[in-house]
Amino acid sequence: MTQLSAARKQQPAEGALKATADKALYGGKSTRRITVRDITAAKERGEKWPMLTAYDAMTASVFDEAGIPVMLVGDSAGNCHLGYETTVPVTMDEMTMLSAAVVRGTSRALIVGDLPFGSYQEGPVQALRSATRLVKEAGVGAVKLEGGERSHRQIELLVESGIPVMAHIGLTPQSVNAMGYRVQGRGEEAAHQLLRDAKAVQDAGAFAVVLELVPAELAAEVTRTLHIPTVGIGAGAGTDAQVLVWTDMLGLTGGRVPKFVKQYADLRRVMGDAAKAFAEDVVGGTFPLEEHSVH
Ligand code: KIV
Repeated sequence: MTQLSAARKQQPAEGALKATADKALYGGKSTRRITVRDITAAKERGEKWPMLTAYDAMTASVFDEAGIPVMLVGDSAGNCHLGYETTVPVTMDEMTMLSAAVVRGTSRALIVGDLPFGSYQEGPVQALRSATRLVKEAGVGAVKLEGGERSHRQIELLVESGIPVMAHIGLTPQSVNAMGYRVQGRGEEAAHQLLRDAKAVQDAGAFAVVLELVPAELAAEVTRTLHIPTVGIGAGAGTDAQVLVWTDMLGLTGGRVPKFVKQYADLRRVMGDAAKAFAEDVVGGTFPLEEHSVH
C-alpha cells in the first residue's frame, strides 16, 4: 500500500461527491454542480455513489434536494414517461426537452443525457451533432450512449470535442429487437466480450460505464479491471455506483418490475388512493369546503 492510499484509507472520504450529498441530505446548500472530475476522484477514493433516472423538473428537484449526486435522463423515459413500449421510438427532440427540464429542476447533480436510438449509430459525426444538442440546448454535463467496441469511435470524437461520455454495456435496451432483454456476459466467450467492451470504452475516454444485467462476479471483475467507475443495474454489489429507474424504485411503474429492483415506496398506491379520495370528495360534495373557496 502506498503512503497516499494508506492515508486515504484512514480518513473518511471528504470529496465533493460525498460532501455535496451530505449537505443536501442535511438541508445545507452546496455551491456547485458535481462534475465528471468528482466522479473520477470518487473511484480513486473507493467511494460508492447512487444515480437515479429523472425525466422532469419537479421529480429531479426532489432527488437533487435528497442529495442524489448524478441523475440520468435515460431514454427509459420511453417506457416510464412517454408511454412507448420500448426505448426505440424515443427521439432527439424528446430527449432534449426532458433533459432541459431536469437541468432546470436541479442545481447540484451532474445531469447525464441519454442519446436515443438512431442518434449516434451512423457514426462519430452524427454522435457529435446529437450530443452537442444535449449540451447546448439542454445544458447537460455529460451524455450516455450504448455499445462497447462498436461505439468506441463515437466516444473518442465526443471526448476529443470536450463532451464527457458515460458508456453503457451488457444489456443495451436500444438493441432489444436484436438481443431481447436477457442477462449478458454468461459463458466464457460472452464474458470475454464484455471485458473487451469495458476496456474499449475506457480506452476511448469514457468517464464511467453502465453495466446492465450482467452476472455479479463478472461486473465485480470489470470494476476491478477498470480505472473508470462502473455503474451497475442488475449487476450485483461489486460495482462502484448503482443506478435505478426512478419509477421502479419508487413503485410507480405498473405491472412487473425486474428482480434487481428494490422498491423504496409504493407511489402507485399512494397516488391511486389520493385520486380516489379526491373523486369521492367531489362526487359527495365534500370538496371544496369553505376553506378552499375565495370570495
Ligand atoms: O435509460 C436508462 O434509464 C438507462 C438506465 C437503465 C441505465 O439506460
